[in-house]
Amino acid sequence: MQNLFEDLNPPVRRLMGPGPVEVDPRVLNAMSMPMLGQFDPHFTGYMNEIMSLYRGIFCTDNHWTMLIDGTARAGIESVMVSVINPGDKILVPVFGRFGHLLSEIATRCHAEVITIETEWGTVFDPQQIEDAIKQHRPKVVACVQGDTSTTMAQPLDEIGKICRAHDVLICVDATASITGMPLLTDDWQIDAVTAGLQKCLSGPPGIAPITINERIAELVRSRKHIEQGIRPDDYQAADGEMIQSNYFDLSMIMDYWSEARLNHHTEATSMLYAARECARIVLKEGWQIRFDRHLQTSEALVSGLQAMDLQVFGDQQNKMPNVTGVYIPDTVVGDTVRGEMLNDFGIEIGTSFGPLHGKIWRIGTMGFGCRKDNVLACLAALEMTLRRHGHNASAGAGVDAALAVYNRPAAT
Ligand SMILES: Cc1ncc(COP(=O)(O)O)c(C=O)c1O
Repeated sequence: MQNLFEDLNPPVRRLMGPGPVEVDPRVLNAMSMPMLGQFDPHFTGYMNEIMSLYRGIFCTDNHWTMLIDGTARAGIESVMVSVINPGDKILVPVFGRFGHLLSEIATRCHAEVITIETEWGTVFDPQQIEDAIKQHRPKVVACVQGDTSTTMAQPLDEIGKICRAHDVLICVDATASITGMPLLTDDWQIDAVTAGLQKCLSGPPGIAPITINERIAELVRSRKHIEQGIRPDDYQAADGEMIQSNYFDLSMIMDYWSEARLNHHTEATSMLYAARECARIVLKEGWQIRFDRHLQTSEALVSGLQAMDLQVFGDQQNKMPNVTGVYIPDTVVGDTVRGEMLNDFGIEIGTSFGPLHGKIWRIGTMGFGCRKDNVLACLAALEMTLRRHGHNASAGAGVDAALAVYNRPAAT
């Protein structure tokens, strides 16, 4: 007989890596709601609610605010493939792994990709980006807001304005930063933003919220081709080149998210329920409380790590509040410590990529996982594990330092 294996019974973990992170139980609950047909008025009503909720999340009035099925890079690919015509010049400021991802996706769209790079652990001065725009005159700047690979967050307010002044489009990947720190799509004049659920939104990976403004929507419409079999009687293809991907063709996805409800893919019902609940939880909490919570947790974690004689990675002025990089002490093997944290304490912390591989760990404190009990448990477990490997911080120093941050009277 075929092996049917054991009942699915995954261990409970504190997911404190760079994502995915613990899913808020309210989101898991929403995902267990009954399936609906994708044109059921209840379902399309939820789609409209989601558009409205995610306008709140992206701080935008953009009508075209919707979900793309797939993980965060599905959102990125949908925007890139729908905006980039082969041969277009795209400028990508790279300050970590996910800048390289943007550049790779643009390359696959047959763009002429120009990258500028800064050392991992630093971000760009807006002037560097303006200089590159003046030199290369790209159609689009594609930039990450928070790059989990380096734990750095690129300030974007000035860059958005620079792009607009030079009539260049700017597309931002905010997967790792969205709702963990401010992102003011409209105020900062950002044309497109893409995200994912599995970081500060505290949902599972599998659907990508995006928002695009009219400048992008206009470009997309100029390439509109509807697949055969569902074309309305008055159909006329647009003059522009057909978008290279069917799945990520924003013009057809926009039709499905519009009153036309023209069929495209089969919507991922349970992921849509999840996304709806993620957004409600964030907006109910409120921005100030949420940002303060992430900042305080970051400060507590950093204080705790430093009190354990560990060195925090990167330019602290531009550190993401929801991920912390910390140098692995010379005496220990990073992956051995991570393995013991997982097996002995049920705590997952992150490894790192590229030039940082084996040099730093990355500890995530995002959304539902951004909690005092997580920080204290992680510091205590790290201290115990490091001691076994010869890194002897004073007993309890990390937890005490973190508690001191939490116990500090609030500024009046
Ligand atoms: C900044 C950033 N962009 C893009 C991605 C890719 O997301 P996904 O793996 O969901 O496609 C990630 C994932 O960690 C990320 O942190």
